[in-house]
Amino acid sequence: MRQNPLAYLDDELNELRRQGLYRPLRVLDGEQAAHTSIDHRHVVNLSSNNYLGLTTHPTLRARALEALKTFGVGTGSVRTIAGTMAIHVELERRLAAFKQTESAVVFQSGFTANAGTVSSLLGRDDVIVSDELNHASIIDGARLSRATIKVFPHRDVEAARQIIAALPRHQRTLLITDGVFSMDGDLGALPALCDVADEYGAIMMVDDAHASGVFGRAGRGTVDHFGLHGRVDVQVGTLSKALGALGGYVAGPASLIDFLHRRARPFLFSTSHPPSVAATCIAAIDVLETEPQWMERLWDNTRFFKAGLEALGFNIGISESPITPVIVGDGARAMTLSDKLFEAGVFAQGIGFPTVPQGRARVRTIVTATHTEDELQFALDAFGKVGAELGLI
Ligand SMILES: Cc1ncc(COP(=O)(O)O)c(C=O)c1O
Repeated sequence: MRQNPLAYLDDELNELRRQGLYRPLRVLDGEQAAHTSIDHRHVVNLSSNNYLGLTTHPTLRARALEALKTFGVGTGSVRTIAGTMAIHVELERRLAAFKQTESAVVFQSGFTANAGTVSSLLGRDDVIVSDELNHASIIDGARLSRATIKVFPHRDVEAARQIIAALPRHQRTLLITDGVFSMDGDLGALPALCDVADEYGAIMMVDDAHASGVFGRAGRGTVDHFGLHGRVDVQVGTLSKALGALGGYVAGPASLIDFLHRRARPFLFSTSHPPSVAATCIAAIDVLETEPQWMERLWDNTRFFKAGLEALGFNIGISESPITPVIVGDGARAMTLSDKLFEAGVFAQGIGFPTVPQGRARVRTIVTATHTEDELQFALDAFGKVGAELGLI
């Protein structure tokens, strides 16, 4: 009889179960919303990246339906063959204007935007200097590029500078950071990294996945927040989080975008967004530009919730954004906290190694603009009760 060549997978999964780190997929019964039903339980949802609540915004829904009726459900091709519709071009024009850059290109996701961009801009003879906590899509893109990868300790600008200073003059180098770090919620050291990039002529790139729609004027991101327009060569963002739909984009000089059209492999080899997605993203930009109340509520809720967790005595790290980690340390304990919160009506996902370093396991919370104060207070009460039960506070 044939032996199962995949048997080792069961061994690895059983090991995760033994360590208490095996997570089932939670299933939403309905919409992605601040208060929703997950696994048939009504919960306050603190685990989505739906910062502004746009996943269910009436304007976005209406535009998606309109595009569906007008243009159909799919594009049937990659962008470079027959999959570029006028609505994709319109979205890119709007993104470039929004980010105040010459041009922009949309990818299928933030992941493919990062991986496709880093892997096509750099090659075997080049160097990538990257913050140790940069997103997995940057790491994968760097590996695919075959460039030499040099990692600096988190937000340690002096270490980044020393790495670059030791390289030969005229070495092509990419200096790259997340704008907001997804697991800790702190900001990249952008202004100081831009100074280093300027000094040594490095390409400066930022991944603003968690900053788009959250930081800067009308959600233009960290480059706008820090007043760094014109100093970041490559800005990546996502359309999948605060903008409520799906996709990633790169904004920058026209020659960068022109090059990516010809070299970025996800752009060349994977089918483009359905027109309804592009229409939804255009509607999201309209909402960002005309409805400031969502960002205002997001930040009011962020301040309220962080203050509540801090008053309860939790370790909430160094976050400066709506992402607030409740750091527990031990992986199994973080999962127990998450499970008990779920039983108490609060969904806050437990996150352990390898997504965060060993000993830094946590429950990660993200509030949104559409949580009510009552919902957030309910969640704080649950955190207080369960945290005390587990001896965390
Ligand atoms: C920092 C960061 N970059 C990129 C991505 C990928 O974005 P997307 O979900 O649009 O693929 C994520 C999302 O998980 C992220 O947290």
